[in-house]
Amino acid sequence: MKAHGEITPPPDKSITHRCFMIGSLAHGTTVIRNALESEDIASTRKALAALGASIRKDGDSYLVDGSTLREPTHVVDAGNSGTTARLVSGIVSGIEGITVMTGDESLIKRPMARVIKPLELMGARFMARSGSFLPMAVRGGKLRGIFHPMEVASAQVKSALLLAGLFAEGTTTVNEPSTSRDHTERMLAGFGATVEVRSKSVSVTGPQQLTAREITVPGDPSSAAFPVVWAAATPGSSVLIRGVCLNPTRTGFLRVLERMGACIAIENEKLQAGEPVGDLVVKGSHLKAVTITAEEVPSLIDEIPALVVAAALAEGTTVITGARELRVKETDRISAMVEGLTRLGATVEELEDGLIVNGPARLSPASVRTFSDHRIAMSFAVLARASDTEIGIDDPSCVRISYPRFFEDMDSLA
Ligand code: S3P
Repeated sequence: MKAHGEITPPPDKSITHRCFMIGSLAHGTTVIRNALESEDIASTRKALAALGASIRKDGDSYLVDGSTLREPTHVVDAGNSGTTARLVSGIVSGIEGITVMTGDESLIKRPMARVIKPLELMGARFMARSGSFLPMAVRGGKLRGIFHPMEVASAQVKSALLLAGLFAEGTTTVNEPSTSRDHTERMLAGFGATVEVRSKSVSVTGPQQLTAREITVPGDPSSAAFPVVWAAATPGSSVLIRGVCLNPTRTGFLRVLERMGACIAIENEKLQAGEPVGDLVVKGSHLKAVTITAEEVPSLIDEIPALVVAAALAEGTTVITGARELRVKETDRISAMVEGLTRLGATVEELEDGLIVNGPARLSPASVRTFSDHRIAMSFAVLARASDTEIGIDDPSCVRISYPRFFEDMDSLA
């Protein structure tokens, strides 16, 4: 089925999390416009409220009174959100007292050692379930800056350390093998912090004061990726997607689709919330297979399930490697995509750190399992539309994590 029309994707999830968190740390009242309303963001709002932040709605905006955060009286539940769990663990490391954190069935299986180890070196103390999983207790207090070389690029780890670094004595420097999304660095600078950014490393020197500001969240490229793939892979499609964040640390999927022969133009470029933003005009064409390697994975990590759909629709053999991190997302996204595509009759090979997809796949109707992962559900939903295949999705409601209006928006493009 071709895609036609225009949509405005939901506001960016990563940026919205950071607006609430950084607003809670800043002096004054932060006004957040166009904040994402989704389950993951509700987890962040509740976590910050438990720490004493005052967050209220005023018409279409949120007002956050940056207050002195304090030890919470109850367990902080990060729900399904890895960003909430990891970034908040950085914040509470700098708060005197004990914070106990937990999460849902998926989040309690996701690794926390990556934040626990460096935050302990900064002076926080953690007691976590065996294997360094949630639930965990954090004793926050006096912190000192550290130099932390990350083995795997992770914006969540980098951000947790930068937020903790605001409370610390001295300089905290995070080094990454390739650049992950840099929204925290950009936003901290926008809130008046001094942040030193060099190629592949970033430093803050604490303690630092932040100043509240007004901020309007741009559209989420990770959510836009689903209609982009649908339109790009079906000849005759034409779609306009308005107001998408085009930060280069997030748009690796557009570069890959262009290599696949997709026809994508950018219009109305501007700067908003310290981020490049623009409209995407996508026209359908016959895509060809592509190779994706480790170096570019951080810039498209959340879009790989959507790119796997593009690969299934494209001519030739697509090889994705260097993406082992996909195994520790909301679910193991490598095995979830391989299982779903195999059930549909596609020829796919599972690699330890990626997958090989042979396209164009000749698909037959089948049911797939999402493992309650929003991006798996949305990937198969666009594959169904782009390939005119009946695909049963076991838990379509999990899209509420990042894109509550997903099915309405996709129906409007049909
Ligand atoms: C995110 C960072 C990425 C990404 C996640 C959101 C963020 O995780 O996959 O969806 O907002 O910082 P990692 O830091 O684990 O790569």
